[in-house]
Amino acid sequence: MLDIIAAIIKGLGYLAALGGAGIVLARATLFPIGQLPGIGSVPAVRAAGALAMLCAVVTGGLFIARLGGPSDPAAIDAVLWSPLGAALALQLGGGIVLALMPGGRLAVIGGIGLLLSFGLVGHAATRGLSTSASVFAHVSAAAWWLGGLAVLFAGARAHPAPGYTALVDRFSRQAMWIVGVLVLAAVTTAALLLEWTFDPARIYDAGLAAKAGLTAVLLGLACLNRFVLLPRLGKAEWPRRWLVRAIMVEIAIFLGIFATTAWLTSFQSPHAGAHQGAHEGRAAPRGTGPIRITDAWAPASISGLGTGAGYLTISNAQNAPDRLVGVASPWAESVTLHRSQTVGAMTRMRAVAALDLPAGGQFVLAPGGYHLMFTGLYAPFVAGDTVPVILTFERAGRIEAILTIRPFGAAAAGHRH
Ligand code: HEM
Repeated sequence: MLDIIAAIIKGLGYLAALGGAGIVLARATLFPIGQLPGIGSVPAVRAAGALAMLCAVVTGGLFIARLGGPSDPAAIDAVLWSPLGAALALQLGGGIVLALMPGGRLAVIGGIGLLLSFGLVGHAATRGLSTSASVFAHVSAAAWWLGGLAVLFAGARAHPAPGYTALVDRFSRQAMWIVGVLVLAAVTTAALLLEWTFDPARIYDAGLAAKAGLTAVLLGLACLNRFVLLPRLGKAEWPRRWLVRAIMVEIAIFLGIFATTAWLTSFQSPHAGAHQGAHEGRAAPRGTGPIRITDAWAPASISGLGTGAGYLTISNAQNAPDRLVGVASPWAESVTLHRSQTVGAMTRMRAVAALDLPAGGQFVLAPGGYHLMFTGLYAPFVAGDTVPVILTFERAGRIEAILTIRPFGAAAAGHRH
């Protein structure tokens, strides 16, 4: 349930960020400096800013609650000093600027801040600067398109016919370049995330194909506006009415694309399958070294929150005690050791600095007790995927373990074997 709420908040966040920032950016390119369209764009930007703030606060709250509650300093730290924390700060700050100064020039900076937040978290952040930059370009162009449509929609009522025709003309000229950037950045981001492969049988890839299909319908409508309605605007009343209808359909398609994107980024992974093959050979229990790792797994993550738990059994074949002193993973900003403890009706989580392994003994990390805590996940944990972790032991040194992601319901059952 929590994951569905988080995905819905994500979708609303897209609407707020792209809608608010988009109107501000489109206003900046469509109107002479200092001149505001004088239509409903100011209240719309204000509302989008307020919604962006709300989404940032709720997402941060869910994140902290999941990590251990507001009284746990480790949880607050994990939010503040992770890419998610930075993204939420940009979303919150941008939202505040848009809500308080919706018509000013500062609004452009607030809008850009909102859009930058997309380059910091999500799948794009797993591949470094190039994917972050391409997703930022992609999202900014999409925002401009949506914002421009909103301005045209509002203007269809408020502007006199001649001025309005010039505005639509300016929009459609600029759109040719900006929508080109959107598509180019979309293809680049997809290619980088999928490592230049495309398999329609993979759910993530099929989701992208659905987005491409919806975008193609949008482009079809844009052509209708440009080549059929625009030349007739001002000459009769019907083209303007049809333009308003076409824009309404386009905005509805944007909502569909947001829903598809929120579902894709919350419940699907571009890595699913791709990494599995690569790690399959190494996923087997490692029995030869002084430390043996078995039953290494993680439940599919509650998406949108950027955290995950991991479990494993460590057997120490050395005839001396050892200590697990550090854990890291390329999939997360940080991995720490935690212990859940139930006192009365309250379950609390505490960070643990190290785990002691007796000579020849075993340490079990299992639900309800000790576990690995992943914070600032770069991609959600999707069932069937595998996640590598590096465990650092005082004596035995660094050991790699591969956690298999199990579906949420099956996770606990899987642990018992
Ligand atoms: C008007 C059309 C589109 C809109 C409004 C749109 C919107 C978005 C948004 C808001 C994100 C950010 C997701 C996040 O980081 O949380 C995103 C990411 C992305 N988009 Fe689009 N998009 C559009 C078209 C497309 C098309 C046609 C493709 C290519 C097939 C595409 C491919 C991608 C990819 C690969 C990502 C990264 C997803 C991830 O992190 O897993 N988009 N898009």
